[in-house]
Amino acid sequence: MIELAPSILSANFARLAEQVQAAMEGGGTVLHVDVMDGHFVPNLTVGPPLVASLSKATELPLDVHLMIENPEQFIPVFADAGANWISVHQEATPHLHRALELVRQHGCQVGVVINPGTPVETLSEVLAMVDYVLVMSVNPGFGGQKFIPHSLEKIRKLANLRAARGLNYRIEVDGGIHLDTIGEVVRAGAELLVAGYAVFGQGDPRINAQKLLKAAMEATLQKV
Ligand code: DX5
Ligand code: ZN
Repeated sequence: MIELAPSILSANFARLAEQVQAAMEGGGTVLHVDVMDGHFVPNLTVGPPLVASLSKATELPLDVHLMIENPEQFIPVFADAGANWISVHQEATPHLHRALELVRQHGCQVGVVINPGTPVETLSEVLAMVDYVLVMSVNPGFGGQKFIPHSLEKIRKLANLRAARGLNYRIEVDGGIHLDTIGEVVRAGAELLVAGYAVFGQGDPRINAQKLLKAAMEATLQKV
């Protein structure tokens, strides 16, 4: 099932509830929250207090994308704050299996993320334990970057592996998703579509979300 996950990274934080509401009215069904620590990625964003506030302010499931070192330390804190989905970068911990188990133990949907330079093959041993795989289609750290076309190959590979191994994970894509790129990621096999700048960067988030979803749905009809 195709879902649009607006990323609040490009939202106006002083008017966050209103902007989230607009993106939801436009058809966004998951709210993507980018957590950055200034170490794993060269930027700082938000932490558990914002997740706690959002979980009171919206009905949407909160998809917390951890771009932090030592994710194990913070998984319980984000789960307690109200995260519904938590994704952990393969590159962020030598104990990926333990971190993913921890997410599961805290009752959240389990996601694993790979950077553009990380091969899909590095996930082989954990694919059976995740609910979703997030393919970064930009190098994480900032909104509004350009989509890296090679990501399409990685999405296709993950879709093929899923079929070959009889698994059920969903495929999420994050970075550079806008009206010109959303169709091709859907045709490659992505179904959870994160969009930050394209929803909140300019104009009306409601209309932006509607247009993105429409383009994504049209692409599903062209899938071979
Ligand atoms: C980037 C973040 C993304 C970001 C995407 O590090 O993980 O979620 O918000 O932004 P856009 O859609 O603007 O590329
Ligand atoms: Zn993200």
